[in-house]
Amino acid sequence: MLLQELLGISEDIYFVEESYLAQRTIERTLDYLNGVRRFAETGKVRLLRVHEGEHTLGLFLFNSADEEVSVDFWSVFTGALAEARSKKDFEILVDPLLTFNPPEREVEVSSEIWRDAVNEYYSLMLVNRNLCLGCAVKPESYGSVFSENRVRRVEEIFDILQKKGIFPEGRLLEVCCGNGMSTLALYRLGLNPLAVEINKCTVCQGLEQGVLNPQRTVVMDATALSRYFEPGSFDGVMGFMLGLVYEFNKDIWVNIMKEVVSVSNEGALMLFTVSSKPEAEILAGALLRAGVKGEIVDNTDSEGTYDQWLFIGEKQKA
Ligand SMILES: C[S@@+](CC[C@H](N)C(=O)[O-])C[C@H]1O[C@@H](n2cnc3c(N)ncnc32)[C@H](O)[C@@H]1O
Repeated sequence: MLLQELLGISEDIYFVEESYLAQRTIERTLDYLNGVRRFAETGKVRLLRVHEGEHTLGLFLFNSADEEVSVDFWSVFTGALAEARSKKDFEILVDPLLTFNPPEREVEVSSEIWRDAVNEYYSLMLVNRNLCLGCAVKPESYGSVFSENRVRRVEEIFDILQKKGIFPEGRLLEVCCGNGMSTLALYRLGLNPLAVEINKCTVCQGLEQGVLNPQRTVVMDATALSRYFEPGSFDGVMGFMLGLVYEFNKDIWVNIMKEVVSVSNEGALMLFTVSSKPEAEILAGALLRAGVKGEIVDNTDSEGTYDQWLFIGEKQKA
């Protein structure tokens, strides 16, 4: 696990927050750190620190085996993914702890690498069934779940883009990634998007099959992206086979379109595929209203199923 590699430790590690999403509010983290503060002045707390410049990204606190837990482990605290106020509260609590208990080791990493390491931790917790106790879902074979034809179909969309002189660059987001069939095409093209998907069983399947990159996959509701990412966080957003988008459920998809625009940079590429023209029109309408200029592209084939209609566009200056 990247976290263990970064710190050079072999013991188990556990974040106090139960999910990646809880890392935004870090209520438990702040509560636990408040508790730890009482022991801080003893100078006996064993700590490891991860930092970027003067900012503490993560703190590892050693726990010895006892009658309740049979092995030594590290509790991990981070404020790096939290919103600004909680991030500040985290640093306020951490600073005196570090003063009284100088860390045994300090490692400097970029906040991007730290985010990947935190992502990976939650992905591994998910795929190892630690987040869904009692899970009865049996693994399926790769061939019964993934279709090479579909992966190629997504890859071919990038030939269309290339002919228009477009190729995604920078920080990329893929929404509604499913089990990673479309993400696999992006990986093959040398892209490394952050892939988000609301259905954790689907994500688990993609991780289990070694398709989704555990460091770059998050279980997340795409209608709430702006809760977790700052404006301007992405230089390109993609989503493949969104929907089904109907009049009666279009609000969800319209919201997703608004959210992707709100977390992307000016000039960001917007690429979405659906199976029918009316669906493409609903997405295009929402994107145009949110400040994206673009076009609907007919990509129909004789099979008439996947990625039949595309929306290709660019976020305009506000
Ligand atoms: C038809 S699948 C496409 C999966 C993948 N992009 C592909 O092309 O194979 C649509 C996906 O959107 C996901 N989805 C629906 N609503 C979502 C939301 N609010 N946030 C994130 N994902 C969502 C579904 O769970 C489903 O996996």
